[in-house]
Amino acid sequence: MEKYNQVKELLKKYDQEQLLVKYDEMTVEQKDQLLDQILEINFDGIKDLYELTKVKTTMGEDKISPISYVDKSKLSKEEYEELEELGVNEIKQGKLAAVTMAGGQGTRLGYDGPKGTFDIGLDTHQSLFELICETLKEAKKKYDVFVPWYIMTSHENHQRTVEFFEKNKYFGYPKNEVMFFMQGEIPTISMEGKILVNEKGFPRLAADGHGGVFESMLQSGALDDMKKRKVEWVFVGPVDNPLVNMVDEILVGLAKSKKCMAAGKSVVKARPEERVGVFCTRNGKPSVVEYTEITEEMANQRDENGELVYGESHINCNLFHIDRINKIAETKLPYHVAFKKANYLDEKGNLVEGKEPNSYKFEAFIFDAFTSLDSMAILRVKREDEFAPVKNATGVDSPETSRELYKKFHGIK
Ligand code: UD1
Repeated sequence: MEKYNQVKELLKKYDQEQLLVKYDEMTVEQKDQLLDQILEINFDGIKDLYELTKVKTTMGEDKISPISYVDKSKLSKEEYEELEELGVNEIKQGKLAAVTMAGGQGTRLGYDGPKGTFDIGLDTHQSLFELICETLKEAKKKYDVFVPWYIMTSHENHQRTVEFFEKNKYFGYPKNEVMFFMQGEIPTISMEGKILVNEKGFPRLAADGHGGVFESMLQSGALDDMKKRKVEWVFVGPVDNPLVNMVDEILVGLAKSKKCMAAGKSVVKARPEERVGVFCTRNGKPSVVEYTEITEEMANQRDENGELVYGESHINCNLFHIDRINKIAETKLPYHVAFKKANYLDEKGNLVEGKEPNSYKFEAFIFDAFTSLDSMAILRVKREDEFAPVKNATGVDSPETSRELYKKFHGIK
């Protein structure tokens, strides 16, 4: 009773009493669980986030400039071999680990399961997870090491992801080289700043964005596990690109030779309106201007050769030195607001169906960590070699386009 009164008081103070709308109908265990969940919410933080929804994100006074990069295809034979040797050395000594960010929802794809379990329609019906795992198996053949593989899941898809790996016998990769860790969650709120209640009567939580990867690695023990294995470089990549190259000796070699604590891969932006972020420098620090943020003028700006000035697309393939991950994990990255459709219970317990966007979700982005770095090595790679994103159900960046790119790269008829 004491806990209940404490919660009641708290909710009154923050005008969030809808959170108890289903309380009376719950079992004793559920009631206790709900009260505990509510006590964990940072209500002041939620208030701040609501204020954030009223502010339009712009680049403000930020000084944005193009970033310098190294074009992998334009390296001389000597330069290439030098980077290769540096990178191969690190990899062979077991200093590289791979992280796959697989906590996203795949809403645009219209797919219900964990995105990594999606079949892009190859004759083999391999899932994205299996296709991605191939690069690690290749690396084993090439360098005779198992690169440890860490999969970031969300509360929502964790169990189904682990079951999928079990069912598929880890795609032939040693089970003790695969680790799962869950990313964090944060409440979603209504357009009036009220925390949404889900159909079961609990706060409606959502994954807190892939920027949470650093903190989750630290809290889950994944980072400690890497340290135990003497890992120094951590490649962090997406689940939605079957051409992702997680073990790239040139990327590792480049970071090492430039003495950078991080490196990122870019591909040339296909067209000004392509939905990709672009690398840049922001107030002198490495950064990404996201596709939702870039101005039309900037997106269309071309240099004297006709190339887009902001044309180094961020493909979410980044490499971090483990010491830097520790530091980033201890700092809080900012949240970005997404306006989304959601079903929820109103203050009377009636179901509100989100046919149109009606709620705010908050996400931290991995690239907000870049601005804490003094420099970052950018490696421009060929789009056709490494970028076949699966984002939408049809059209651009769909299973069909991804499949064709994958087949072309691997010479599959
Ligand atoms: C992302 C990048 C964009 C880049 C593009 C390339 C962001 C915000 N933008 O856009 O700069 O040019 O990819 O394809 O990332 N994920 C999680 N947990 C989450 C959210 C996402 O693990 O909470 C994972 C997804 O499963 C996916 C990856 O992060 O593997 C990318 O996320 P997504 O939200 O699809 O990014 P995009 O908007 O496509």
